[in-house]
Amino acid sequence: MTETVRFNPNGEIPNHVAIIMDGNGRWAKERGLKRTAGHREGLRAIKRVVVAAAKLQIKVVTVYAFSTENWKRPKSEVAYIMQLPGLLQDELLPELMANNVKVQIMGKEEHIPIYTKHTIKQVVQTTQNNTGLILNIAFNYGGRDEIVQATKEICQEVRDGKLTLDQVDETTLSAHLKTACLREFADPDLLIRSSGEVRLSNFLLWQLAYAEMYFTSVKWPDFDEETFLDCLAAYQERNRRYGGLS
Ligand code: FPP
Repeated sequence: MTETVRFNPNGEIPNHVAIIMDGNGRWAKERGLKRTAGHREGLRAIKRVVVAAAKLQIKVVTVYAFSTENWKRPKSEVAYIMQLPGLLQDELLPELMANNVKVQIMGKEEHIPIYTKHTIKQVVQTTQNNTGLILNIAFNYGGRDEIVQATKEICQEVRDGKLTLDQVDETTLSAHLKTACLREFADPDLLIRSSGEVRLSNFLLWQLAYAEMYFTSVKWPDFDEETFLDCLAAYQERNRRYGGLS
C-alpha cells in the first residue's frame, strides 16, 4: 500500500517550478468539446497554480504554453492558442497584479502574429515592476533550438576574439540561454507534467539536468491547488544529491 504524502508548509519549497501543461485536448474530447475548450480551461488552471505558487513564495513558475513544434497542429488550433495571451490579459491580469506577479515571455518572436506580440508586450509591461513570483511563459519555445542559438552566439564571440575557446564552459552556455535573466533561479528544481505522458518534449533540456520530476495523470484543465500541493509534497520527499552523496 502506498502512503499518501502530505505537503508540509514548513518543509522545503522549490524556488523554480517548470510545468508541461498537457492533456487539454483529451480533457475537451472526453466532454464532447472542441480541443480549444481544453486550452481555454487550461488558462484557468494557470491562474489557480500561479495564485497558489505566489502564496507559497515560490520564485519562478515556467509554463510550456506553445512549443516550436506546435506549429504542426491544425491552423485553427494554432490561431486559437495565439489568442490566449489576449484572454490572459482580460481574465488573469487583475489577479496577477493583486498577487504581485511579474510576467515574462521566453521564446522566438518569428511567426507570432502582430496582435499576439502586441498583447504579450502589454502584459509584460503592465507587470514589469511587480516584485513577487515570476510567471515565465514559454511561447514558441524549443529547448534544442535554444541551445543551438546559444552555441551560435558563443561561436561568434570566439570568432570576434571576445572569448577564448578555453573560457567556454557550462556557465558560458547558461548565460546565453533564455533563462539567463532568472539568474540563480534559472534551473528548475521541480518539473511537473500533467496528463500521464512521461517525456520532456523539448522543454528546458539544459536547465532540467538536475530537476526533480513529477508526472501526474491529472489533465491540465483539472489541475488545481490540491494537485499542486501533491506535487510539492512529493518534491519534499526527494533527496537531491546532484551526483554526489547525501
Ligand atoms: C498541451 O495539451 C497544451 C498546449 C499545447 C497548450 C497549452 C496552453 C495553455 C494551457 C493556455 C495558456 C496559454 C498562454 C499563452 C498563457 P494538448 O493540446 O497537447 O493536449 P492533448 O495531449 O490531450 O491533446
